[in-house]
Amino acid sequence: MNSKSPSFDFPDIDRTKLPSHVAIIMDGNGRWAKKRLLNRIKGHEKGADTVRTVVRTCREIGIPNLTLYAFSTENWQRPRTEIQALMNLLIQFLDSELKEMMDNNIRLDAIGQIERLPEKVQQALRRNMDVTRKNDGMRLILALSYGSRSEIVQMVQKLALKASKGEIEPEAITSEIVSQYLDTREIPDPDLLIRTSGELRISNFLLWQIAYTEIYITDTLWPDFGRDELLHILSVYQQRERRYGKVAEGE
Ligand code: FPP
Repeated sequence: MNSKSPSFDFPDIDRTKLPSHVAIIMDGNGRWAKKRLLNRIKGHEKGADTVRTVVRTCREIGIPNLTLYAFSTENWQRPRTEIQALMNLLIQFLDSELKEMMDNNIRLDAIGQIERLPEKVQQALRRNMDVTRKNDGMRLILALSYGSRSEIVQMVQKLALKASKGEIEPEAITSEIVSQYLDTREIPDPDLLIRTSGELRISNFLLWQIAYTEIYITDTLWPDFGRDELLHILSVYQQRERRYGKVAEGE
């Protein structure tokens, strides 16, 4: 089968050069609602529909890992009603998508301070992660109550403790070992990071993991993001030359 075989329905995408991990900062739900004189929560509801579309599209294309920044440690500072609405949307999503995840061989995972989430969200998460844990068609990772700096601080604390007990020599700590002590230990670093709504920031997301990640920022607000734009971004990604700090081939 060649890379543009008829069974692969994406003429602009080369299936041999797919990113193995796409990470997305889903931003702009509030602005989407404001533009329509709606409550911010309506923006999150529409945003949850976009999540469904994007997960489905990534699965169809064959992206092995998709991480979505669904709730940051900083988001705890939002009004209580908005936090509650986001938590309810998460539960709804986890309940309504379980069948689709099973039908499509998708495994659910979560990174972040899961223990800070309301018990009901934790239960829904645990159930989905447990039921889907043997699926190997795609891994959907939700970043929930996630902050990269606190993930890094925890990694340092664990390694420092090991060193203080003599279980590891400080000089033996390598990049690979650091990666093994992060929440993302089982997942390759993202190849592509997408941020919607035009902000030129990383917002405490996967700081260690994105060292060599290609970044694509679109002005589209997350509720307006969809399949066509995702396909376009993937084709742009495939045209980029990834040099990892080296010179281009042939130079
Ligand atoms: C950013 O928009 C978005 C969030 C803080 C939450 C993302 C949540 C969803 C997309 C819906 C629920 C998620 C799942 C996985 C079902 P913002 O509110 O910061 O927008 P603004 O910057 O325009 O105010």
